Amino acid sequence: MMALLEVENLRVAYGKIEAVKGISFTVEAGQVVTLIGTNGAGKTTTLRTLSGLLKPAGGSVSFDGQPLAGVGAHKIVAMGLAHSPEGRRIFPRLSIEENLRLGAFLRKDTEGIAEDIARYYELFPILGERRRQAAGTLSGGEQQMLAMARALMSRPKLLMLDEPSMGLSPIMMQKIMETIRELKAQGTTILLVEQNAQAALELADYGHVMEIGNVVLSGTGEELIHDESVRKAYLGED
Ligand SMILES: Nc1ncnc2c1ncn2[C@@H]1O[C@H](COP(=O)(O)OP(=O)(O)OP(=O)(O)O)[C@@H](O)[C@H]1O
Ligand SMILES: [Mg+2]
Repeated sequence: MMALLEVENLRVAYGKIEAVKGISFTVEAGQVVTLIGTNGAGKTTTLRTLSGLLKPAGGSVSFDGQPLAGVGAHKIVAMGLAHSPEGRRIFPRLSIEENLRLGAFLRKDTEGIAEDIARYYELFPILGERRRQAAGTLSGGEQQMLAMARALMSRPKLLMLDEPSMGLSPIMMQKIMETIRELKAQGTTILLVEQNAQAALELADYGHVMEIGNVVLSGTGEELIHDESVRKAYLGED
């Protein structure tokens, strides 16, 4: 059986600079897998490549049994791979509800879309309360909730989250992590990029540590959280 996502020796370059230098990992359906690592490790580059926004320089990616080589970004969303990007990228002048509807832009099932909007208003009550308000008026944490819900509106088989906790207060960060845990409990498959290694490893089935374009260490969340080098480099211990 192939995993839902199979990344094999993936390389990505910006001009002459190789940002991702041949990484391999898999995500099985139902898992939460995390990529952790310091600034510039290549995490965002990896997600943007999986989404079809960047063209790989080498290696292969297969999703749901199909190679992604040459497949455009819209088609990749249609195949079931959704991306909540770094920095959220919500549409600030559009209302919360309009942002959610844009997440479903490839769907035609009006009733299903309405059901999903109702579902995410239940998961994130603040979004429901402010549904007609411009999304730019939301706080950072609320915008993160909207970005996650918008990505989920495509009913993805795999949800990729790029630093959902970035710039959030500890309480808001905890709330976002709880939501990811809840999505996992509901069976959502997630590829989570985080600089907050502790929080990510606590909820991940599997993790990979990236350093300057390479995966330098892999293991279960449990193994990595107890790994001495991870504790020193990423969990602030000396
Ligand atoms: N558009 C670009 N043009 C040139 N170089 C880039 C571009 N985007 C990223 N890079 C470089 O590629 C490398 C990997 O960047 P990337 O954004 O993937 O890192 P990251 O792991 O997501 O870091 P962070 O945790 O800071 O978000 C870095 O050295 C970065 O400077
Ligand atoms: Mg990044």
